[in-house]
Amino acid sequence: MHADVIAIDGPAASGKSTVARRVAAALGRLYVDSGAVYRAVAWEVNRRGIDPRDARAVSAAAARISIATFAGGGAVRFKVGGIEPGDALRTEEVNAAVSPVAAVPAVRALVTGLLREMPRFGSLVVEGRDIGTAVFPEARAKFYLEASPEERARRRHAESRAAGLSVSAVRDSIGRRDRIDSSRTVAPLSVAPDATVIDTTALSIDEVTDRILKADGIRTLPRPDAGPAARER
Ligand code: DC
Repeated sequence: MHADVIAIDGPAASGKSTVARRVAAALGRLYVDSGAVYRAVAWEVNRRGIDPRDARAVSAAAARISIATFAGGGAVRFKVGGIEPGDALRTEEVNAAVSPVAAVPAVRALVTGLLREMPRFGSLVVEGRDIGTAVFPEARAKFYLEASPEERARRRHAESRAAGLSVSAVRDSIGRRDRIDSSRTVAPLSVAPDATVIDTTALSIDEVTDRILKADGIRTLPRPDAGPAARER
């Protein structure tokens, strides 16, 4: 059976997290932030004092990291070694470590395996970089959000987590991650041939969300998990 997944991919600060969260809430689906799982591995690598650029050490660490998933609050969430990391995943240390860590094949296998098991919790909206291409190539609907580098840097800078950094420093950091994410050998950031591409540069979050919700068939996708009680919620 095909997993009941809507895939939303795109580069950093393309608006996909907020949009994916809203689409999931509007459709009564669970939201999945796949980047957060990569961030959790990077966080754990940092916590263990491993150099995120030492692929061999990262690979060995990936074999020993235990990540437990569960559903709650409209999302699929996870704990690493019994802890839900939350805001600790959004620091500059994690930003700097996550792209090299996510390029390690053992890390991608770990996270991809976890993501592929998540449809057991229900129908999903999954956001990331390779959801429509590598993780759920059979997803029922695929969207790819993009925006100009200037607009993405402006958005990221406006978020409180970028406090203290100039817009140009944020732009450099995003540019570095784009380059690593697009050039890695395993599942690089790329557009699925059957994805709908939305340039969000001049669009508000509401407008992007609306476009997705109005796309062909989105509201009529079957939700095999939704019994009468789930539908009434
Ligand atoms: O969306 P984000 O900024 O939280 O993602 C963090 C990093 O994780 C990003 O630099 C690349 C990686 N990532 C990935 O390689 N594949 C995904 N499906 C999601 C994220």
